[in-house]
Amino acid sequence: MEELRKQYSLAGLDESAVNPDPFTQFTHWFKEAQREITDSWFEVNAMALATADKHGTVSNRIVLLKGVDEIGFRFFTNYESEKAQQIEANPNASLLFFWPQMERQIRISGTVHKTSFELSKKYFESRPVKSRISAVASPQSKPVANRGELEDAVAQVEESIGGLQLDESKLHCPDYWGGYHVAPKEFEFWQGRENRLHDRLQYYLNDPSVDENGWAIRRLGP
Ligand SMILES: Cc1cc2nc3c(=O)[nH]c(=O)nc-3n(C[C@H](O)[C@H](O)[C@H](O)COP(=O)(O)O)c2cc1C
Repeated sequence: MEELRKQYSLAGLDESAVNPDPFTQFTHWFKEAQREITDSWFEVNAMALATADKHGTVSNRIVLLKGVDEIGFRFFTNYESEKAQQIEANPNASLLFFWPQMERQIRISGTVHKTSFELSKKYFESRPVKSRISAVASPQSKPVANRGELEDAVAQVEESIGGLQLDESKLHCPDYWGGYHVAPKEFEFWQGRENRLHDRLQYYLNDPSVDENGWAIRRLGP
């Protein structure tokens, strides 16, 4: 692996060219990635979510970004999963987007909060019925004996809502499933450059007790 070496040369990232608001800068890069990345297999909204338990044991996994607003970055999951248990014990988390086609990485760290039940319900109801059934049936992160056990759990949910004549109106968002927001405290935008002299711009909160929107920008060594 030592011989694997790629040069990054697509673009630069300058303090004068970024938006002072990191949410706007994120949206700008996200839209650019959506426009420029044409590989159909690539999920621009896939992000690594790192959480840690109260002892500092870290865990990492991919989840899908389902929205960004002034509260933060939204994803949906099982509230009894390992990640949920870690978030319960320790609300600090980190998100990471890697868009290799753009030679870009975005790091976001902040605190995690559950979304309202109304928001979870609204998103749950927008999902394809088979995905909803899987979400209801899956004991996410718990040991299961075999694939058959999962398929039986799905069949039971299907049976409970009418079997072959599925009645979707009977399929409710369970209280063990829903959304989280990551409310950012820090953002870092990374652009790969030639000879490993990359550009890294970090947004940090100047003084959150004085001004919640007081984002400042500094350059970090690559
Ligand atoms: C491309 C991709 C997208 C995923 N999206 C989600 C998601 O949006 N929500 C989710 O709960 N799990 C998602 N997963 C599964 C998670 O990576 C993980 O296996 C699961 O959430 C259990 O994690 P945990 O045991 O750490 O809680 C996705 C996995 C991949 C590879």
